[in-house]
Amino acid sequence: MSLTLRPLHQHFAAEASGLDLTRPLAPAEIAAVVAAMDQHAVLVWRGQPMEQEQQVAMAKQFGPLNPGLKKIGGRVERMRDMALIDISNVDPDGMPLPRDNPKIVSGLANQLWHSDSSFQAPAVSYSMLSAVKLPSWGGETEYVDLRAAWDALPERLKRKVRGLEAEHFALHSRITLLGDDGYTPDQLAVLPAVVWPLHRIHPGSGREVLFCGIHCRRILGMGVAEGKMLLLDLLEHATQPQFRHSHQWQPGDLVMWDNRATLHRGRAYDLDEPRELRRTTNDEVLEAARAVA
Ligand code: OGA
Ligand code: MN
Repeated sequence: MSLTLRPLHQHFAAEASGLDLTRPLAPAEIAAVVAAMDQHAVLVWRGQPMEQEQQVAMAKQFGPLNPGLKKIGGRVERMRDMALIDISNVDPDGMPLPRDNPKIVSGLANQLWHSDSSFQAPAVSYSMLSAVKLPSWGGETEYVDLRAAWDALPERLKRKVRGLEAEHFALHSRITLLGDDGYTPDQLAVLPAVVWPLHRIHPGSGREVLFCGIHCRRILGMGVAEGKMLLLDLLEHATQPQFRHSHQWQPGDLVMWDNRATLHRGRAYDLDEPRELRRTTNDEVLEAARAVA
């Protein structure tokens, strides 16, 4: 079997088939998936249900796994492996959690456009989300291509954005929803903000990227209000419908995306219905390191 790709959008995203992700991949198959990710940035795999252990083993073939926001604490863990991130609204018995549970707040924050873990350095590369149980309506995940967004930026804005840096903070999305008082000083200090240029090169494709999203808290060297307004304008530009692909989940789907070239967000659904997905996120492994590994 070999990897087959069917483009899903004018700019990015493809449906991938021909490989069984629950078995170890041969080096040539891994290289083919990486090349497909470099080009398409989002790969949709249908009919690949997996056990938690299989998902961890599969994802580890693409680099070390990143625990996401687990350091912040305050959650009951449902996953059997620390590397699996529980993207669900349910308790350990599979029952929907009450609205004021921190996990529900995190799930709502995932409905704001973001790049996973852009608030950390070194960077992360891929996220892989596997669907287990889905609600009767809503709950799609939408993606945008930040390379296409950069290319379409008016020349005046390109000139302005080149050389600008933004501060990304882990709890900014949550604070956007909750206000400042949702977290203790200790929690606020666990993951210090990091700085990324707003204009970056996507390592896989060599293309230019408009690296924005809800984790951006401010622009360095710019007044707070002016910086926030520019961040909002850039995000509005990047998330226009022509740059968007919406994934309608079925159980057993696995979607991989490159956080260095895309933003994503979940869509609303009925929080009284269970929705269960599981995510892994890879630390970035640069090509030189990958060749040695
Ligand atoms: C994620 C995420 C959105 C969704 O898993 O990183 O943002 O639709 N998920 O659940
Ligand atoms: Mn996410």
